[in-house]
Amino acid sequence: MCGIIGFSGAGNAGSKQGNCESSVDIVLNGLKSLEYRGYDSSGVAYYDETDNKIKSIKKSGKLVNLSAELSCIKPVESNTAIGHIRWATHGRPTDDNAHPHLDCSGNIAIVHNGIIENYAVLKNKLIGKGHKFITPTDSEVIAHLIEDYMKDGAKTFYEAVRLASLDLLGAFAFLAMNADEKSICAVKYGPPLVMVNKDKEIYFASDVSPLIQYSDEVIYLKNSEIAYFKDGLLKLTDFKGKPLNKTVTKIDWDASRAVKTGFSHFMQKEIFEQPSCLLDAFSSRIISVKNDGSAADSNKSDSIFSGFKIMLEDVRLTKKDIDKAGRIIITACGSSYYAGLVIKYITETICGIPVIVEYGSEFRYENFPVSKNDIFIGISQSGETADTNSALEIAKEKKAGILSITNVPGSQITTMSDKGVIYTHAGPEIGVASTKAFTTQIMCGLLLALRIKEIKDTASDAGKNLSGVNFFDEIVNLPKKAEQILFLNDSIKEIAKKYYKNTNFLYLGRGILYPIALEGALKLKEISYIHAEGYPAGEMKHGPIALVDENMPVLFLLSNNMLAPKTISNIEEIKARGGKVIAVADYEPDIDGISDIIKIPASAEVLSPILYTIPLQILAYHIAALKGTDIDQPRNLAKSVTVE
Ligand code: M6R
Repeated sequence: MCGIIGFSGAGNAGSKQGNCESSVDIVLNGLKSLEYRGYDSSGVAYYDETDNKIKSIKKSGKLVNLSAELSCIKPVESNTAIGHIRWATHGRPTDDNAHPHLDCSGNIAIVHNGIIENYAVLKNKLIGKGHKFITPTDSEVIAHLIEDYMKDGAKTFYEAVRLASLDLLGAFAFLAMNADEKSICAVKYGPPLVMVNKDKEIYFASDVSPLIQYSDEVIYLKNSEIAYFKDGLLKLTDFKGKPLNKTVTKIDWDASRAVKTGFSHFMQKEIFEQPSCLLDAFSSRIISVKNDGSAADSNKSDSIFSGFKIMLEDVRLTKKDIDKAGRIIITACGSSYYAGLVIKYITETICGIPVIVEYGSEFRYENFPVSKNDIFIGISQSGETADTNSALEIAKEKKAGILSITNVPGSQITTMSDKGVIYTHAGPEIGVASTKAFTTQIMCGLLLALRIKEIKDTASDAGKNLSGVNFFDEIVNLPKKAEQILFLNDSIKEIAKKYYKNTNFLYLGRGILYPIALEGALKLKEISYIHAEGYPAGEMKHGPIALVDENMPVLFLLSNNMLAPKTISNIEEIKARGGKVIAVADYEPDIDGISDIIKIPASAEVLSPILYTIPLQILAYHIAALKGTDIDQPRNLAKSVTVE
């Protein structure tokens, strides 16, 4: 949701070592990298060395408004600052409601991500004690609460922050800075907070993307932890004040991947990165083995494992775990949920194990019977989605095994995953609409299914129908095929020109392509604001067909398999009602009257969802570009949904 940044250190007012920019420049730069997390208002508070006071500048609207405001007051002499980019929950996105929020004295400034559920009770109590509030936000209460503990005799700023944290209910990650001590405290209970600590400097951020330019070694705060930085020293404790050791996580992201490099939008760049991301997702995880009788796998020469081996050493599932479980439960949200639906098809096909896919937001409040034998797989690009992580926490409480597929090293989901983490290796995804994260999640799901089959029983009947598939070749050739689809960019743009004025779309697919119909429709609605529905093609005549007329383009995902004749019948039904048909197909279908066809390379069915997704991303992108929407930061959306 919101983005938080903080810096304290040498800065332009300190020693000759370290970062010589002003803390305000550092914070503003960081906010630019976090713009995808929230963008309805932003602000910075800094310690002004010239008069030893905290100054706060806040602006509603996009970050450019804040940059413009700050450029009028520069140069600033400061070595401690915090900043925030907001996605409003409590209070409209106005200048006042933007963070940072100050206490009555102006000596304490805070930036907050999350929701303080008991803010009304705390606020009333503090008002009763004479505190003056100037906003209706839940966040402002944090600054006054800390001030109150200072007044009540807390010996240090850290102690006041610690006591205040114990009073808060809900989900919160915040930075609090103090003018008297020139210190910063970071507190986490829910939403993410990450730090880089080097050369007596500290950088705080709500995710790693702004930090990778400073170091590839980061420290993730865990829930109920506080970091306190004063006089160049970092102290870490829990909410009870118990000192903790710092655990450093290495991030293998390349900082250059977080810039647009010539593309108009991050989303476009991320679509075009998919061939290399897919390669990164599988390379070193699938290796070729000989089938000459000498290899360990000779007994598998007629199975789907002919000629390769899966190397997913981080997956700690045993045959006993899999046999005892008898089922797998996937939980995720948004596009990651759709990836889960694809992985269900793949796993059931390859392993013959039933898979249930549940939205995190539904799972956490339903009466799903969880057994300690269950295996859960959480899928999340960010690893910080509150609904997904809460669902996994419920499973964990019931002692079920947890695996995760995520893109962000060290993120919260990884800390819950006792049975292992599979990193998608997609690199930073900045566009709010998921693209490369989605396709690499499917790739990782496929590798996991193959690994489960390998552990379980390669000789079982499950997956026998796939024995003609050369998985090694299919996987290794996939990036090349993805690249061929990218060459269709211009022709897909021409198709976009025909349809971008339409106000409704239907996306239809069958079997393993049905979740891709859902994902295609989600991409279109997220970035172009066109209403789009994804449906299983066979369900069309059970309702949605009532919507079809000459103004309703219907996009079909058509594959040359045993379901093709059935999907072709559905196309005929649309044509008969005057609907315009766009088809994405891996063959030349023998049918007239398709208005537009996007021909993609064929692949094994279990890999096909990855390829079918790419033209839908490109189509949504061009439609949105023609409509002139804000593609990387679509209205109302946030990249990481860290609150309910
Ligand atoms: O970080 P996650 O994968 O857990 O995020 C889940 C959804 O919020 C996310 O996929 C969302 O639906 C995207 N905007 C899709 O493009």
